[in-house]
Amino acid sequence: MDAVATSEARRAELVSLFDAVSSCTACPLAETRTKVVFGAGNADAELMFVGEAPGFHEDQQGIPFVGAAGKLLERLLGEIGLGREDVFIGNVLKCRPPGNRDPQLGEIEACQDHLFRQIELIQPRIVATLGNFATKLLSGNPAGITRVHGVEQSVRLGNSEVLLFPIYHPAAALYTRAMLGVLEEDFARLPQLLGREPALVPSEPVSPAPDATPVAAELEAQLDLF
Ligand code: URA
Repeated sequence: MDAVATSEARRAELVSLFDAVSSCTACPLAETRTKVVFGAGNADAELMFVGEAPGFHEDQQGIPFVGAAGKLLERLLGEIGLGREDVFIGNVLKCRPPGNRDPQLGEIEACQDHLFRQIELIQPRIVATLGNFATKLLSGNPAGITRVHGVEQSVRLGNSEVLLFPIYHPAAALYTRAMLGVLEEDFARLPQLLGREPALVPSEPVSPAPDATPVAAELEAQLDLF
């Protein structure tokens, strides 16, 4: 796929991709989804998060990480002085697996080009993979998250060279509290990886996500939603 140069051109391509993905029928999840969850946030983000797959609330709203794991992700972002509007948040799968089961290989294969193209268009410097599925897919390495979390590596994804930074999935930290401290420590490294000062003041308590109703069935609405 061609490299797209300007920010405006990349944004327009992202909107075209959104349109294409919105009607994707490449795998059977198309039959059970309520909404495609393309991803949302800053189309020029330096930092992109890649989770696993939409859950119940994401499927209802068409927006990633709007449930409990999303609240934790927002808190962790707030602690390093960032908000959802600063980053782009996507997933390995754009459609919810029934009952929130694990993504299947055929679904990942059917969906992965959408993710690779998103990364090419957004051109983040850092891609933080949340949990095993995103980490294994984007690193091309079967090593699990417990071994590789917190260890950055340079990877080539399509036309983009990005710093991959695997971290635990926030949902895992909700279920296993011991992981929360590790997740916080890994998160605290992100400002340095971004070449920023760490947040000096304790961040404001993070307010709940704005009523995360898509303004329109258009990515333009979602790009600056948060
Ligand atoms: N978990 C994910 O991996 N992605 C979401 O969008 C929500 C929860």
